[in-house]
Amino acid sequence: MSDATSWDDRYRTAEFVWKPEPNRFLPVEVAGLQPGRALDLACGEGRNAVWLATEGWTVTGVDFSEVGLQKAARLADSRHVTGEWIRADVTQWRSHTPFDLAIVFYLHLPAADRRAAFAAATRSLAPGGTLLIVGHDLANLTEGTGGPQNPAVLYTPDDVRADLETSGVSDLVIDQAERVERPVDTETGTIAAIDCLVRAHRSASSPGS
Ligand SMILES: C[S@@+](CC[C@H](N)C(=O)[O-])C[C@H]1O[C@@H](n2cnc3c(N)ncnc32)[C@H](O)[C@@H]1O
Repeated sequence: MSDATSWDDRYRTAEFVWKPEPNRFLPVEVAGLQPGRALDLACGEGRNAVWLATEGWTVTGVDFSEVGLQKAARLADSRHVTGEWIRADVTQWRSHTPFDLAIVFYLHLPAADRRAAFAAATRSLAPGGTLLIVGHDLANLTEGTGGPQNPAVLYTPDDVRADLETSGVSDLVIDQAERVERPVDTETGTIAAIDCLVRAHRSASSPGS
């Protein structure tokens, strides 16, 4: 967990590195889902997990940054909700309980590690469960703004499709895999960041895998 130290340092610097409100795509994508058990893999400071908890979900957040998890727990307290916060490397972690929703937001790792983390999220799904992956698209480097500047950790909808096909979960259905724009306010005005959004679900009559 070598990088955990640098994430700890980053999370120590400010009250919140990101706004404590959920990512703009999350409320839209979970609207209409019946709240149940939700997993936020690489939950960071917990903005998305805590929002899900306020919407009635029973949340588990996993991240290797102890400082991030402490902030997530504090954010949950401040919103009068609870969560389970697990310190682990998401490329190694395995879920022992099935989740109705698994989200992975803005996790940017080299391809093999990314594939392992996405597979962990996919395998955690209960029959009928929904998977939501959002991150900076590779095109953001040249056409968007912000985000990691190393192309090796960026991805495209096709990359995620290919990752999910090797997850070992044969009954996963990809519902949506596309580039989406996210307006970002900058000193020179509003610029569209380009994100990759993938939504999938596991068949309701899953035999398990
Ligand atoms: C850009 S932040 C995104 C946090 C959160 N998903 C959000 O959208 O606010 C990336 C997070 O991934 C975590 N992370 C990176 N690699 C990890 C790994 N191998 N295992 C666990 N967490 C990891 C970092 O600690 C950090 O909190």
